[in-house]
Amino acid sequence: SLMRELKGIDVMEMELKHRLGIRNVIIVPGDSDLSPLAKKEMGRATVKGMRQLLAGKNIIAVTGGSTMAAVAEEMKPGIYNDELMFVPARGGIGEDVQNQANTICAIMAANTKSRHRVFYVPDQVSIEIYESFIKEPLVHEVLALIKSAGMVLHGIGDAITMAERRKAVPEDMRKIVEHDAVAEAFGYYFNEQGEIIHKVLTIGLQLDDLKEIPNVLAVAGGSSKAKAIRSYLKQAPPQTILITDEGAAKLLLKSG
Ligand code: G3H
Repeated sequence: SLMRELKGIDVMEMELKHRLGIRNVIIVPGDSDLSPLAKKEMGRATVKGMRQLLAGKNIIAVTGGSTMAAVAEEMKPGIYNDELMFVPARGGIGEDVQNQANTICAIMAANTKSRHRVFYVPDQVSIEIYESFIKEPLVHEVLALIKSAGMVLHGIGDAITMAERRKAVPEDMRKIVEHDAVAEAFGYYFNEQGEIIHKVLTIGLQLDDLKEIPNVLAVAGGSSKAKAIRSYLKQAPPQTILITDEGAAKLLLKSG
């Protein structure tokens, strides 16, 4: 019955939360590898979670990816009755436009009738570009907004999938493969133990900044992402809330 199914999910959420040692776990039915509906459900659950957590005016930093794009689709005017401002967590130029944080923030702002900022910097920069860009007043201003965010919405990716999608240079690709990276988030690559094995030089939110942000919503699902989710959450800040689907959750509960 539906009740039994719901109870099943409740139990899974509790157990996963306990095992992963994070603030909360929300599981939606389905497997987003198999059905786009599960990704849509994760989007809805994320918006619901946001409404429950936010208080007062808020800056929300957002990363890129198709899951974040699904979250944006579920936002509507009136989901929140105070001011919101959506800010890209990092420069995202280099990915397809629909997956870029700039695009996603613009859609979130349009759908909720709130404001957003753009952050037109490449996702991956050289040390020279990094050093000159961060001196730019506009870049500086966006970085300050990111650091003062009350909430972060982010995706978690499979390492190889993300390295390929972001067209990692051969040298980085070799490093990612040789060090057995399984997860990617915020431009950082992690091995199964959750150790950082590679970091792309990006302008924007760094893992250390994440620790200071009160509400962190990690949204990732699909059985193919179970390994990545487990790895990333080994080192994620304890205030992280995971929004995932049954496909990933079942595998997360199987081992580890
Ligand atoms: O960093 C992780 C990626 O943004 C996840 O992308 O939601 O398209 O799988 P995705």
